[in-house]
Amino acid sequence: MYSGQSIAITGAGGGIGRAMAEKFLAQGAKVAISDINTELVEKTAAEIGATAFTCDVASEEAITAFIQGAEAANGPVDVFVSNAGVGFPDEPGGHAAGGSNESWELSWQINVMSSVYASRALIPGWKKRGQEGVKGRFVIVASAAGLLAQVYSGSYTTTKHAAVGFAEYMAIMHKADGIKVHCVCPQYVKTNMTKGMTEIKEGPGKHLEASDVADSLFAAIEKDEFLVLPHPVIKDYFQAKAADPDNYIGGMAYRAKTIDKGHIPLQ
Ligand SMILES: NC(=O)c1ccc[n+]([C@@H]2O[C@H](COP(=O)([O-])OP(=O)(O)OC[C@H]3O[C@@H](n4cnc5c(N)ncnc54)[C@H](O)[C@@H]3O)[C@@H](O)[C@H]2O)c1
Repeated sequence: MYSGQSIAITGAGGGIGRAMAEKFLAQGAKVAISDINTELVEKTAAEIGATAFTCDVASEEAITAFIQGAEAANGPVDVFVSNAGVGFPDEPGGHAAGGSNESWELSWQINVMSSVYASRALIPGWKKRGQEGVKGRFVIVASAAGLLAQVYSGSYTTTKHAAVGFAEYMAIMHKADGIKVHCVCPQYVKTNMTKGMTEIKEGPGKHLEASDVADSLFAAIEKDEFLVLPHPVIKDYFQAKAADPDNYIGGMAYRAKTIDKGHIPLQ
């Protein structure tokens, strides 16, 4: 299915983005990976056989240049994965809005606007494509924190909810254009982002490998599903939240009060 396709992935120097790149490459795709960390992305690209680009996704100019570079190298992009993301904890002992404006602004740019910029660069071309079937596929790596709260990170919770909102909006507005959107919402995954966090080794919320998230994306594409839930239990939590929002808030407030702070993953 992906043989010869042109794939572009942001924040793919390591972690989930790299795992997705490896899976696309294994299926015969041509993959362009980018990251803000030039040394890391060049090393990774050399290891896995992708093409490397430096791209700070907070900059619309840089995203456009990445897409142009990926297209020059591999042809028109068939699948774009907006994966780069950051998280900042609230100020210790502070309050819900206690994080600095800088951390909120960076989270907004990297976790939300990057997808707006990329879709702005891609959708007009995809709409004009003459091919039958899928004209383009846009994947947003959001988080379970986009459906439920990440306690002790107001900026992560808020911007990942916005990322899910934008993914939904794109899927709705461009379904008739033959553009597919997938929104990936994992709970904890063993990557740099969760380094230093106490690993949950068992149960439905256990830490996954980055490759498990890539597998879930591929399975969801096969089934033509929008929402990608590498931890299936998130669907139960999300349904319970919709059914009884007050009970959900009560439960999360209890979690915030009792949580082992080692389970707060963000750097
Ligand atoms: N690890 C988890 O538990 C988890 C859970 C849910 C969602 N996610 C999401 O998965 C995505 C990938 O994260 P990961 O877990 O692989 O972590 P990671 O830290 O391994 O990967 C994130 C990559 O993004 C890059 N990056 C940071 N700022 C950037 C910028 N401005 N421009 C371009 N690249 C930038 C980093 O250099 C890094 O290589 C993120 O969006 C994250 O929020 C992670």
